[in-house]
Amino acid sequence: MSFTIGVLTSGGDAPGMNAAIRAVVRAGLTHGWRVLGVLRGYAGLMNGETREMTSSSVSEIIGRGGTILYTARSEEMMTVGGQARAASICREKEMDALVVIGGDGSFRGAQALANLGINVIGIPGTIDLDIPCTDYSIGFDTAVNTAMEAVDKIRDTSSSHERCSIVEVMGRSAGYIALHCGISTGAEDILLPELYNGDEKAVFERVIKNRKAGKKHHIIINAEGVGHSEEMAERIEAATGVETRATILGYLQRGGSPTCRDRLLATQMGVRAVSLLAAGARNRIIALKHDEVVDYDINEALAMKKDVPQELLEILPLLKR
Ligand code: F6P
Repeated sequence: MSFTIGVLTSGGDAPGMNAAIRAVVRAGLTHGWRVLGVLRGYAGLMNGETREMTSSSVSEIIGRGGTILYTARSEEMMTVGGQARAASICREKEMDALVVIGGDGSFRGAQALANLGINVIGIPGTIDLDIPCTDYSIGFDTAVNTAMEAVDKIRDTSSSHERCSIVEVMGRSAGYIALHCGISTGAEDILLPELYNGDEKAVFERVIKNRKAGKKHHIIINAEGVGHSEEMAERIEAATGVETRATILGYLQRGGSPTCRDRLLATQMGVRAVSLLAAGARNRIIALKHDEVVDYDINEALAMKKDVPQELLEILPLLKR
């Protein structure tokens, strides 16, 4: 019996998505299945943009950032009409299942397809690490290491000029990159969208206190969700007299060659997607829990919640002198 799967990447790209595509394609082909690469996420799916994947179409991509299938954010996929269209293309293309590599929003699209009778498997891929059902999402390790290296460099020039530096990292509504990057660079301040109460006076006071204590720099990691880094820099300089600069790292955090952790987990998760389908599973989301690759029913997965890890937050006050 012939079996056809589709695979797509959706939402913001993340380093390691290519490794996941490669694993899905190679493991699928090993089962003797037909594998269709869907271009440009759900937007491409709605236009029927697919291409036949072979073993060689995923050669030499495990170490490449971005996604060879391209990605997009699709407003239309949030509408009933768009979802129906996407489901009908899956049927037209005779897909027995669709593997969706992306974040929470992409999984909501997958859930809509599942409700329309399409078998979907989700693989978590976003640098933001904000998918509630999983401890890890493909791309986070690479992105946070990119941010960490950038902050190390900014610290050099910040110390030479005895400045305060605000470094804005990605994370529109989640502070995971800011928190991990802030702890791993020994930043003096970390502003998270989940917790920051807008108390700039407290920030000013810490800048002044550190300066009095002889510190040559003051690094503030600011999450995108808090934002306004340029204006904040001006206010800090005006209130403290310490020269302050802002750097917004932006999209460079989404690119680059994936780390070993991202390549490995992407590969494990891609293979898991195929073995689930081979075992007859329907509508699952793959996750990492306590360092183990697991999978959940899609409705159960999307009902989960997660908070910023308390154990990391508790570290912060202990490091402020
Ligand atoms: O990939 C996640 C993310 O990087 C967020 O942190 C950010 O807010 C968003 O994507 C921006 O992406 P885009 O401009 O491509 O929509």
